[in-house]
Amino acid sequence: MKYRTMGKLGIESSVFGLGCMRFNGQASGDSTIDEQKAISLIRKAIDGGVTYIDTAYVYLGKTSEIVLGKALQDGYRDKVTIATKMPAEAVSDRASMEALLAEELGKLQTDHIDFYLMHGINKQKWEKFKSIGAPEFFDDMKREGKIRYKCFSFHGPYDEFEYILNDWDWDMVQIQYNFMDVDNQAGTKGLELAGSKGIPVVIMEGLMGGNLAKAPDNVQEIYDAFPVKRSPVEWAFRWLCDHPEVSVVLSGCNESEQVEDNLRIFDTVEPGIMTDKEKKLMEDVRAAYLSRTKIGCTGCRYCMPCPNGVEIPGVFSTWNNVSLYGIDPNKDFGFRMLKQRGGGADKCVECGACEAACPQHLDIIEKLKEAWKELN
Ligand SMILES: NC(=O)c1ccc[n+]([C@@H]2O[C@H](COP(=O)([O-])OP(=O)(O)OC[C@H]3O[C@@H](n4cnc5c(N)ncnc54)[C@H](OP(=O)(O)O)[C@@H]3O)[C@@H](O)[C@H]2O)c1
Ligand code: SF4
Ligand code: SF4
Repeated sequence: MKYRTMGKLGIESSVFGLGCMRFNGQASGDSTIDEQKAISLIRKAIDGGVTYIDTAYVYLGKTSEIVLGKALQDGYRDKVTIATKMPAEAVSDRASMEALLAEELGKLQTDHIDFYLMHGINKQKWEKFKSIGAPEFFDDMKREGKIRYKCFSFHGPYDEFEYILNDWDWDMVQIQYNFMDVDNQAGTKGLELAGSKGIPVVIMEGLMGGNLAKAPDNVQEIYDAFPVKRSPVEWAFRWLCDHPEVSVVLSGCNESEQVEDNLRIFDTVEPGIMTDKEKKLMEDVRAAYLSRTKIGCTGCRYCMPCPNGVEIPGVFSTWNNVSLYGIDPNKDFGFRMLKQRGGGADKCVECGACEAACPQHLDIIEKLKEAWKELN
C-alpha cells in the first residue's frame, strides 16, 4: 500500500480509501446488505493497509455507519481514520446538528470522527449551512475533540466550488473526479486550486460509480492496442494517482476480489507515474467514450423549468451516460430517479418553450422522444 501526506494537515493516509456506500452494489437508500460480508470486506481492506474509510449518515438506508461501527471493533478503530458526513437536509439548527453528530458517534461506536464533512454541498447548501451556524458548530466540535477536521464534499459547477473553497478555512475537500470528469464539477481546475492552497483532496467516483470498470468495445480496442496491458480499473486509478494533489482515492467495493485487486493496484501508484504515452492513451480512451455521446446538451439549464415538469437536462445526461458507458438503463441510478420523481420525457406536451431558450439550438422535443424511447 502506498501512503501520502495529506497536504497542510501533515498526516499520512493510505492512497486507497474504502468507500462504504455500495456494499450491495447500489448507491441508493437500499439497506439490504449482507452485514457479515461487508464487515469482512472492511477488515480485509484494513488488514491490507487501508487507513482511510468513508461513510455517511444517509448511505445504505442509514445503515452504513452502523455496519462500519461493528467492523471497527476488536482493535480496528485505532488503525483507521473515519470520514462521515452531515446532510444539509437533516439539520435546521444547533440542536439538530448536535443530535445528528451524537447519533453518528453512537452508530460508529467511537468518541470522535476524524474527517467530518458537510455532505455533497453546492453554493445553496453551503449558504444554508452558514445560516444555521454550521461553521461555528464544526469549530466548537473540533475544539471539543469530537471531530478532528472540518471538511466538505462537493457536487456542483466549478464556480460554486471556487466560492465555497475560498469562503472558509477548510481542512479537506472531497470531489468527484476521474479521467472523464476533467471539465465537470470541480474538475482539474478545482483539484489544482485546492492543491495550491495545501488543502488535501479526497477523490470519490474515481471509476464513475463502476462505469469505467467495464470498457465498451470501442474503448477496449484502444486499451488492447497499447503495448502495456492493464485492466480499465487499473488505468483509471493510475491516472488519478498520477496527480500530486490527490491524497486519497475512494473506491466502493462490493466483493472481496475487488478489495484484493485494489490493494494490488494501490501498491504501485506514485505521483507522476504516468508516461507521456500513457497519458496520450487516456486521452484517446476519453475521446472514444465521448464519441458515443448522444446529444450535445451542456446542462446549462436555460430551458428549465419545464412547465410540465420534464427534467430536460436530466433526461439528456442519462441518455448520454447510458450510451457512453454501455449501461443497462434499468440499472442506472439517474434513470431510476427520473422515473421516481416523475421528470420523464413522457410528460412533454410539445409547447416549445424549452427550444426557444436553448443556446445550443437543440431539437429538444424530437430528441426527448428519441431518448425516452431508447431508455425505456
Ligand atoms: N460525498 C458524496 O457526495 C459522495 C458521492 C459519491 C460517493 N461518495 C463516496 O465515495 C466512495 C466511492 O465512490 P463510488 O462508490 O462511486 O466509487 P467508484 O470507485 O467510482 O465505484 C465503485 C464501484 O466500482 C466497482 N469497482 C471497484 N473496484 C473494482 C475493481 N477492482 N474491479 C472492478 N470493479 C470495481 C464496483 O462496481 P460494481 O458495483 O459494478 O461491482 C463498485 O461498486 C463511495 O463509496 C462513498 O463512500 C461520496
Ligand atoms: S416542449 Fe416539452 S419539454 Fe419543452 S418546455 Fe414544453 S413541455 Fe417541457
Ligand atoms: S438549454 Fe439546451 S443545452 Fe441547456 S440544459 Fe437545456 S437542452 Fe441542454
